[in-house]
Amino acid sequence: MVKIFLLLVFTLSYIYGAKVVEVGVKYQSSEKCKACHMRIVKEWEESLHSKSHYKNDEYFRATTDYVSRKTRKSLNSVKVECATCHNPRISVTTTGMDYEIMSVMGLDKGSKVNEALKSSSIDEGINCVVCHNIDKIHADRDESVRGINRISWTKSGTMSGPYDDAKSPYHKVEHRDFMDQNSEQLCFVCHANNKAKEGLVFTNMQKEYQKSDKSCVDCHMGAKKLSYAATLPIDHGKPKKREIRTHGFIGAHTSGMWKDVLKLELTQTGNDILINILNPQPHNIPSGFGSRELIIELSYKNNKNNIATKTISLTQLFTSKRGKPTIAHLAISASADMSVPAHGVKTIKVPKEDGASSVEVELYYRLVNDEVRSILELKEAIWSEKTFITSKSLQLK
Ligand code: HEC
Ligand code: HEC
Ligand code: HEC
Ligand code: HEC
Ligand code: HEC
Repeated sequence: MVKIFLLLVFTLSYIYGAKVVEVGVKYQSSEKCKACHMRIVKEWEESLHSKSHYKNDEYFRATTDYVSRKTRKSLNSVKVECATCHNPRISVTTTGMDYEIMSVMGLDKGSKVNEALKSSSIDEGINCVVCHNIDKIHADRDESVRGINRISWTKSGTMSGPYDDAKSPYHKVEHRDFMDQNSEQLCFVCHANNKAKEGLVFTNMQKEYQKSDKSCVDCHMGAKKLSYAATLPIDHGKPKKREIRTHGFIGAHTSGMWKDVLKLELTQTGNDILINILNPQPHNIPSGFGSRELIIELSYKNNKNNIATKTISLTQLFTSKRGKPTIAHLAISASADMSVPAHGVKTIKVPKEDGASSVEVELYYRLVNDEVRSILELKEAIWSEKTFITSKSLQLK
């Protein structure tokens, strides 16, 4: 019986266990790509992918610390867990009870886990040699298997890319379907099935996705335009003209990007105002990480004077095993999902205010709701800032 069990464990880890491939120093950091891909490196440096790890994102760091404290698991073990998607070039992909014991006894210094987390090769989070060193995406694996466990790596020095005729003197190149035709699959390696420890799936972009004529890269890497992929003069003494995109992966953290992302429609029925929030995007808004928030602010007016205001928060709250408010990663249950569904509508009904002749409705977005900001004691202004999306007025009858 024990033998069969061990065999099963062995086979499962063989099927699902991530195989680590070391990246040669020549390719490890984006610094090495600058000589020929300066534009791309600069764009990527501004993206959230470059800030996906412990050092560079306050929210991520605070969440990691909190998970470790509340689960009494060593911080390093939690870091390794999150690295599955946040830092996939890590050389240790799981930690066991033996590491926990070593860590409690202070004997973990110099261990493989500690060395892996200290290595400069993971300083950059989701960098060039994450996406461009993916050889295969195992989309047939169970949907809970994500990040490093869903892919295999190319050999160090082989870049997978969108072109089928590229040549470079610095590295090998290989074309992959998921770099051009089928790039959603690449994004879904990580942007899907984000789960709490107890199994609660708090975001799943793959499930909510309503495919349209545009794919993730059309919106988050911009439309294709004619330029150069590399500045090296490889085409009769000149750089080769290519269709390219940008590497900014602009999203929820760029406040300028929120204007008109959602639409408002207001109607009055009897004593109620119906606020319809329409989402033309192919995924829910907010999506991605739990605890994001939409804020509706109503100003009731009589002629030009404000006579009352009201604020409505659309967000998700999470509850721990012990029935206390918690963060998504430690939740066993969540309140209703208040996000606006992909290509869908969310309707909110509010009563009209006595004496008001009109109402103005403003819609905002916030990265982290009040509850989680206070649990994690987040300090940076970006987490609490309200970003304007749209507004609309209605004359009341
Ligand atoms: C999150 C994944 C991801 C990361 C990180 C990433 N890329 Fe890309 N890259 C892509 C995708 C997807 C394309 C293909 C875009 C298309 O043509 O549709 C691409 C295209 C390219 C191209 C072809 C030209 C172009 O701009 O379209 C080059 C060269 C390239 N990347 C280099 C880099 C370098 C250098 C870095 C690190 C600074 C990097 N990439 C980081 C996903 C990524
Ligand atoms: C010495 C110059 C040079 C350096 C340094 C360099 N590359 Fe390139 N790279 C090229 C050239 C040239 C091409 C081909 C461009 C073309 O065909 O338009 C290319 C193409 C690519 C492509 C597209 C491949 C395809 O088939 O679509 C990717 C991805 C890429 N490089 C990634 C990287 C990364 C990541 C680094 C840093 C680790 C890097 N490169 C460093 C010169 C360089
Ligand atoms: C290796 C895992 C991984 C892959 C592959 C990946 N992402 Fe990400 N992405 C992340 C993580 C993790 C973050 C959040 C980083 C942080 O914590 O700061 C992120 C952030 C983003 C953001 C910023 C969202 C915001 O809230 O501002 C966008 C946009 C994005 N990714 C789009 C894409 C697209 C498009 C693709 C496919 C071409 C892709 N990603 C592929 C893991 C990944
Ligand atoms: C039609 C355009 C469009 C397409 C296609 C699209 N998105 Fe978005 N996405 C948006 C807009 C608009 C936002 C809101 C923020 C902004 O304006 O960048 C957004 C926000 C996001 C965010 C941040 C969400 C949050 O609330 O934290 C992530 C992550 C993201 N997109 C990833 C993806 C991925 C992965 C795909 C493909 C599966 C994809 N997007 C496809 C337009 C698009
Ligand atoms: C299945 C892949 C995956 C795993 C595993 C994962 N994350 Fe993430 N995480 C993401 C993606 C993708 C995003 C970006 C979502 C967005 O911005 O919309 C993200 C975003 C976040 C954010 C928001 C960052 C910001 O700047 O807004 C935090 C915090 C976070 N993750 C914490 C963690 C912690 C802590 C762990 C480990 C306990 C973890 N994640 C494990 C995929 C993952």
